[in-house]
This record gives sequence, structure tokens and C-alpha cells, in this order.
Amino acid sequence: MSKLTEIGWEDFSALSLEAKRPYLERPERDGMPYHTLFAQQFDRQILERLCALANRIRFINKSKEGALFLKNVLAHKRAMLYFSQPSSRTFLSHLAACQILGITTGSVRDAATSSEFKGESKEDSIRTFSSYFDMIIMRSPEQGLAEKMAWELSNSDRPVPILNAGSGKDQHPTQALLDIYTLMRSFETAGGIDGKTVVFCGDLLRGRTVRSLSYLLTNFKDVKQVFVAPPELHVPEDVVAVLAAKGVRHEVRESLRDAVPDADAVYMTRIQDEWDSSKGASAKIDTSRFRFGAEELALLKPTGAIMHPLPRRDEISTCCDRDPRAMYWRQMRNGMWIRAALIAATFGFEKSLMECGY
Ligand code: NCD
Repeated sequence: MSKLTEIGWEDFSALSLEAKRPYLERPERDGMPYHTLFAQQFDRQILERLCALANRIRFINKSKEGALFLKNVLAHKRAMLYFSQPSSRTFLSHLAACQILGITTGSVRDAATSSEFKGESKEDSIRTFSSYFDMIIMRSPEQGLAEKMAWELSNSDRPVPILNAGSGKDQHPTQALLDIYTLMRSFETAGGIDGKTVVFCGDLLRGRTVRSLSYLLTNFKDVKQVFVAPPELHVPEDVVAVLAAKGVRHEVRESLRDAVPDADAVYMTRIQDEWDSSKGASAKIDTSRFRFGAEELALLKPTGAIMHPLPRRDEISTCCDRDPRAMYWRQMRNGMWIRAALIAATFGFEKSLMECGY
């Protein structure tokens, strides 16, 4: 159980994200989270442990015996996937991660099909899920909802862990984990993530993956973060403030083409027009300098990585898809392994999997 029982909701919600972290851990797990709600819960040591565990699970799963062994690890657990916002990869990769570990799953993918439609509060819905399941993986358009639910459940008589699979415009911690895992694997023989330059491009204002990944990158030494976006969609102040406070090198560039030659990784994002205050507002923004195509590909280092949380629209040309530096397909699959690692670790199976005979 997490330490969220030791603090009231008002006091907890007023804390900084860093100060919230200890309340979300299980004291005996060496910093591993119980609830996963935001990127500030992960330091370098935890990131390295999770990536090592993902590699381990990936390796064990290669043989039939290994895969069957994994299917038994959490065969006694059930997980609820509660997604009240559209999702393909995040939903499916969590589902596949559960299946790898033998977890039985249930899902609600549209609040209109649950009793929320009859006026039930989200608190009551979550309480209902926790009656039947041992973990809740949730995505919601509402910022901070996963935190509130984690507090509610921890203070109920059936606490179960919550994994935030995307909350509003603010956080997407498991996406950031898979992005870090992809970067670690991409730079495995090139000195790791330390010292690299990561260029973020697209809708930096409303993209929750950017905020979560930008924070996780601050755990590495001497990483430079470069932000390229139309003026209307520029990187939010709170993200820049974190970098400034941590002394992380960062800069803003006007066009993607200018930024690509220095990049070790380019992280493209789509325009998040579902958040437009008036319909069609984003369509008026000139995004022509914020697309990755054949010319950008020609400027990218031979060791560079092109990333995207997906779904993409036109911000990466399909002519890049077969280039060995296009990491977005691998990113998707990495998501399944790192989520399997996070789920196994959440249930306390990190050590036994790392030390098992496979
Ligand atoms: C992202 C999301 O939902 O925030 N997608 C994802 O989880 N892979 C990015 C996006 O929708 O643009």
C-alpha cells in the first residue's frame, strides 16, 4: 500500500510533484512507484531498473518455455483498462503487457457505456472497478484525475494501484518511459543518453508526452533540449521553468530544418487540435516549418533517431518510414515491454524476474 493514507487530499494536492513522490511509493520497494501518476516519480536509478527489467522480460519471452513462465507470473491478478479518451497504442500495449504477464483484463473505452452515463461520479466508478480488479490503468481528458483517484483508492478499504495512461494536457508518464527506453536502446553503443541533444517539434503547448519526456530527460547528464514549434503552440512556461531550475541546457529554434543537424533525436508530435477552443483554430496555424521530410532526413546524423508518440498526421513524411533511423515503429513495441516491466515491478516482481533462471 502507498503512504497516501498519511495525508489529506487538500494537503497532498497542494504539494509540488517532487514532494508528492514519496507518498506514491511502497516503502519497501526501493523507490519503485505503487501508483504511477507523473514523470517526476522516476529518477535515473528507477529508469535504469525498469529498462533492465523490460530487457529481461523481452528476453525471457523469446522461448515458448519463457513465455509460458511469464504468463504465470501475474496469473492471479486482474487489471481494468479505463480509457475515457481515444487510444490505440497505449490501450493495446498495456493490454498486451498484461497478457504477457498472464493478467486477466477488463475494459471500459467509452464513459457512455458505463454508469457514468447515468450520472455516477468518477470516484464511484473507480471504486466499482477496484471491487473487481487489482490494478486500474486509466486515461482521461481531465488533468489530475488519476491523482485524485489514487488518493481516493489508497484511502478506501480496497486500495489498488493506478497507472496514468494519459491525463489531460499535462502528463503521460508511461509514454515517457517508453521514449526513454527507446532512447537508451538507440544509443546503447553510442554512449547512452548522456550528452545528447533532443529536439522536440510540433504542438509543444498541448502535448502531454512532451512535458513528461522533457522531465525524464533531466535525469541524464548534460542533455540539451531544443524546442521547435509554431509561436501559437510553444513549449509551456512550466516546462521551461523546470529546465531552468535544474540547470538543463535548452533553447528555442524557429524551424525544424535549422535544428536537425545538431540533433541526436528528433521527437515529432502532432497538432493536438482536440483541445482547440474554437473549432478549426489549429487549422489556421502555419505548420509548414515543423514537418520532418526528405530534406530533414538528409540533414540528420547517421546515428540520429526519429521519434513520435503517434498517431501521426503529416508531420513525418512516409518517405522516412523505412530509414533505419525511424524509431517510431520500435517505440510502439518498446511500449509493450516497458509497460510489462512497470506492471511487474508495481506488483513486486522486479527482483524475482531479474534473478530467475531464464
Ligand atoms: C499521445 C497521447 O495520447 O498523448 N499518443 C499516445 O499515447 N501514443 C500523443 C497524441 O495523441 O498525439
